Amino acid sequence: MTRFPLIAGNWKMFKTVAEATAYLATFRGLVAEVTGVDIVLAPPFTALHALAAAAHGTRIGVAAQDLYWEREGAYTGEVSAAMIREAGASHVIIGHSERRTLFGETDATVNRKTVAALAAGLTPIVCIGETLDQRERDETLAVLDRQISQGLDGMKADEILRLVLAYEPVWAIGTGRNATPAQAGEAHAHIRQRLREWFGAEAAERSRILYGGSVKPDNVASLLAQPDVDGGLVGGASLDPKAFAEIVARSRA
Ligand code: PGA
Repeated sequence: MTRFPLIAGNWKMFKTVAEATAYLATFRGLVAEVTGVDIVLAPPFTALHALAAAAHGTRIGVAAQDLYWEREGAYTGEVSAAMIREAGASHVIIGHSERRTLFGETDATVNRKTVAALAAGLTPIVCIGETLDQRERDETLAVLDRQISQGLDGMKADEILRLVLAYEPVWAIGTGRNATPAQAGEAHAHIRQRLREWFGAEAAERSRILYGGSVKPDNVASLLAQPDVDGGLVGGASLDPKAFAEIVARSRA
């Protein structure tokens, strides 16, 4: 079946409120005529509300880059799913490899965050992917199995249908070295097969699996040509509105 492509831009810790709204003023014009692809931008928390307000009425959705699973409480520095939703976001990135390696996130925290996001009506974009060491030791598929089975532990098929997975090989993130279409295709086919076994055919066929890791205007079409690659999670190249609009334009169904 055809899955509608999704292109998400992860700005990481880049862009002030002023920079985010200036970006949107340019970007919305560049994608105004583009159809056949969903678009999401993930700014830092501080720019979430302003960007969502500026994107209101456009086809551009807004995502947070993280959340905390409790609804409210004494959790200094944390932001809840309901707060993110109220700020105008529709999506939230969960378990990005930078959160896992720099901030101690685990498959167990990914699981709690995903449950909380779904309960608040946000669409989680759950990130999985192997390190270079793991790939060289031929552990890629086993790592993906662990991240899916533990990160999505306890979920029902209807919850899987409401989330997005992002396969991001850690060695491809920010390195300029993207996975080849064949490498991405193999990992994505494996992920979809596991979704089929663990959550059923409908969840597997309808869930979108994004590829992330050095996606650029000149490689996005060949990556998305893989039958199980349903879109992209784009870091560096999403910071420039022209480059990101180019990626969006080349991703259409
Ligand atoms: P990159 O980042 O496109 O800069 O490699 C991707 C990501 O971290 O999501």
